[in-house]
Parts: sequence; C-alpha cells; structure tokens
Amino acid sequence: MEEKKSCATMEKLVNLCKSRGIIFPGSEIYGGMGNTWDYGPVGVEIKNNIKRAWWKRFVQESANSFGVDAAILMNPRVWEASGHTASFSDPKMDCKECKMRARADNLIEAHSKGAVNPDAMSQEEMQEYINEHQVRCPNCGNFNWTPIRNFNLMFQTSRGVTDESTNVIYLRPETAQGEFVNFLNVQRTARAKVPFGIAQIGKAFRNEITPGNFIFRTIEFEQMEHQWFCKEGTDQEYYADFKEKAWNFLLDLGFDQNHLRFKDHDKLALYAKSACDIQYLFPIGWSELNGIHNRTNYDLSRHEEYSGKNMMYLDPVTNEKYTPYVIEYSIGADRLMLAVLSEAYDEEKLEGGDTRVVMHFHPSIAAYKCAILPLQKNLGDKAKEIYNELKKYFMVSYDEAGSIGKRYRRQDEIGTPYCVTIDFDTLEDNTVTVRDRDTMEQVRIKVADLKNFILDKIAF
Ligand code: GAP
Repeated sequence: MEEKKSCATMEKLVNLCKSRGIIFPGSEIYGGMGNTWDYGPVGVEIKNNIKRAWWKRFVQESANSFGVDAAILMNPRVWEASGHTASFSDPKMDCKECKMRARADNLIEAHSKGAVNPDAMSQEEMQEYINEHQVRCPNCGNFNWTPIRNFNLMFQTSRGVTDESTNVIYLRPETAQGEFVNFLNVQRTARAKVPFGIAQIGKAFRNEITPGNFIFRTIEFEQMEHQWFCKEGTDQEYYADFKEKAWNFLLDLGFDQNHLRFKDHDKLALYAKSACDIQYLFPIGWSELNGIHNRTNYDLSRHEEYSGKNMMYLDPVTNEKYTPYVIEYSIGADRLMLAVLSEAYDEEKLEGGDTRVVMHFHPSIAAYKCAILPLQKNLGDKAKEIYNELKKYFMVSYDEAGSIGKRYRRQDEIGTPYCVTIDFDTLEDNTVTVRDRDTMEQVRIKVADLKNFILDKIAF
C-alpha cells in the first residue's frame, strides 16, 4: 500500500480531532461504541460547510437539479425492490475459537497484502482461497472458521407495539431509494423535463462489522447522493460528465490531484452498465471516496414492478414513453470529511525550531472564518464590538486567553483562515491586524472593511 506523502496519520488526526472539539468517540463516558463518532463544536461546523458546498455545487448551481429530504424509515417493500433485502450483505466468517467475526474479503486482502482483489471473486472462490492458504484468525491466530455466510448489513427495527415479523422495518442503508421513489413527485411538481436530477443529503445506516478506521467506515453516516435521470443512449455521456463534475468538486475544495484517482469497478452489479470510484490517498492507503454509477433503468423498473405504479416518463414533445436511465453520484459526507481533514493537515517547521500544526482548509470549509483576539484583556470591549458585528455574517471565534502566539497556534490547529488582532492602535484609528493562516503574513485593515475582506475570501 502506498504511503501518503503528507504527515497526516490516522492517529494524529484522531488525537487532533478529539483535543480540538472536531470529533469525539461516540458514547465515550460508557467506554464508547464501535464505529460511532460524535461531531464536536468545531467538527459540526466543518461538516455542515462540506454539505453546504456540495449542495451549492450539485443543486443550487446545477441546471435542472432538485433537492429532497426523504424519510429514513421506508416501506419495507422498497428494500425488496432495490435488492437490499435479498443481497445487501457482506461475506462473514466467525472464528470458532475466539468468536471473532471477520469479513472473508478483508481476510484475503490482508493475507495477500493487497495482491489479491477479493472484489473480483465469487463466494466459492473466497472460501477456496481461505482454505488453501489456511488464512488464520487475526485475533487468536487459529484456523477454525465457520463457512462463509452472508450477513445482511441492514439494521432492523420494528414498527408498532408487537415484535411480529410483519412489523419489521429497516433503517435505510442508502439515501438513494428516497430519490427513486419520489421520481414522479419531483418530476410533476417541479415540472421537470428529462434529463433532470434529484439530490439528497441524509443519514444512512449499515451494520458494518469491519474496523472503521475512524470516520472512514461507520455504522451511521451521512450520504450526499445525486441521481440524474436521462434517456437511454445519452447515459454514457452523462456518466462521463458526472465523473468530471465529481473530480472538479474535489479539486475546488483544495485536493491535490496526485492524491486522487479513478478506479473502475472490477465486478459490475448485474444492472450496472458502468461504475467507478474516485479513490483518495487516505492515511490507510488508496480507498474509495465516492462512487459514480450508470444504473440503467433498473431502479425505476423495479419500483414499477414492486409498487404496481407506472414509473415511466412521457416526453411532452415527442410523446414518447420510456423508463429513464439513472446516473448516480454518491459520496459519504463523513468520508469526505476524513479526506478533507487528511488533506488539510500539515506540520510546519518554524523559525526558532518550533513546529506548528496547521489545517489548510479551503476557507469556505473552515469552522470559523476568523478569530477575534484582543492583545490584552482590557481591549475586550472593542474586540467584542467587532466580534458581535462580524458574527451576524459568518462563524467567528473569540479568544482572549493566553499569549497571542498560543492563540494563533490554537486557531491554526482548527484551520481558522484569519486571525484579527485588536491592539491599542485600534482604539485610535479603527484598524486591526489580520493574519493569514497559510502565509502567516499580516496586513493592517480598517474595521469597516473587515467584513467584506473576509466574505470575499471565504466564497466557494
Ligand atoms: N447509493 C449507492 C451507494 O450507497 P456505496 O458505494 O455503498 O453506494 C456510497 O456508498 C458512498 O457512501 C461511499 O463512496 C462512501 O463515501 C460512503 N459510505 C458507504 N458506506 C459507508 C460507511 N459505512 N461509513 C461511511 N461512509 C460510507
């Protein structure tokens, strides 16, 4: 596995996130709960900014794209139609000695040190590999596995007051189905003509049994998904467009293109015509950041079959009736957050030998757009006046504790792009010093110009 050239390791990111209020372990005071994480005051701002940037690019600025916010709990027939009830599963094995549960594909990948790609193998081939190579339990070292069994990843719950199986419902494992089932509702109410898109940001849940690697893989996460409905024959062109759009979005967020690559799927789902991921060079190595899929007309056809409702589109110009193809673009908000954190993280040697940790977020993504730092506590009134005015427009941090150097370091660590220092001259001439996070250069500007100076820089 290739090493990431930046200095961000998963351990450093986890520690920084915990100490700076970005992300905490879930249910920490009870000893935590595997693969769950809570966003703190800084993290929730960063994640909201990521979601806002995505929505702006894929809904607000996209011609003919419309948003929805569908229910997490859907009619269970939805999951039969989508195929999740029958086959949304991981190949799992249990160690009969220590009871550890593992995924067969992960065991093979680890055993072959990445040389064998289990995604391209059938279940029988995986079983053969594990037996032939006597792949041992990573926990206790024994080779005494149950045969591979499929483990459905959907979380079940029950509706109503009894536990009868007829009441079983699921927490959605993807947001996409909320877009598909609303295809006609959106088309009619938005008076949309094919091609058009439906987008959604929302929670999804998967009973993942593999180690999460921080927020890379969690059991509860947010997805940002966009389904583009188009006519068969135009689908591959739009597939290429979405690959480009997804790539450019990441570059505009400040990603180095050397840390990104396309990876075509080795094994296509039965209904898919084309599918690829954009992979990012995470601290754990190259891994999927987002997916782009040509899903043909599978989803709408299946919902037509299972719901009995006609899901066809009537072209108002040609009077032609057809079931649109779908190009799906899907990215996890939390996984993108991890990539953004990893990409932003830097350790810089300073003159005098000190090292500063600095997060070089795109200013639109940073939690706070500026920090107000009175040089001394008795400048607090003036500093508060400026703070109270600026916070009407964007998130502002206020810090008067400790030396100015320490306060700069704290803001660098959470990636605040501008530090505004209030000194005694401010009282005389209404000017402040603005320090740039990345260059550490300082300029003197008028308080009256501060708002627009910052608004200009933080646009995405
Ligand atoms: N509707 C298509 C779909 O859900 P997917 O590849 O299973 O496709 C899409 O998921 C994206 O959701 C992934 O590329 C990843 O960014 C994110 N994702 C999937 N499972 C996740 C998990 N357990 N934790 C965090 N993010 C996840």
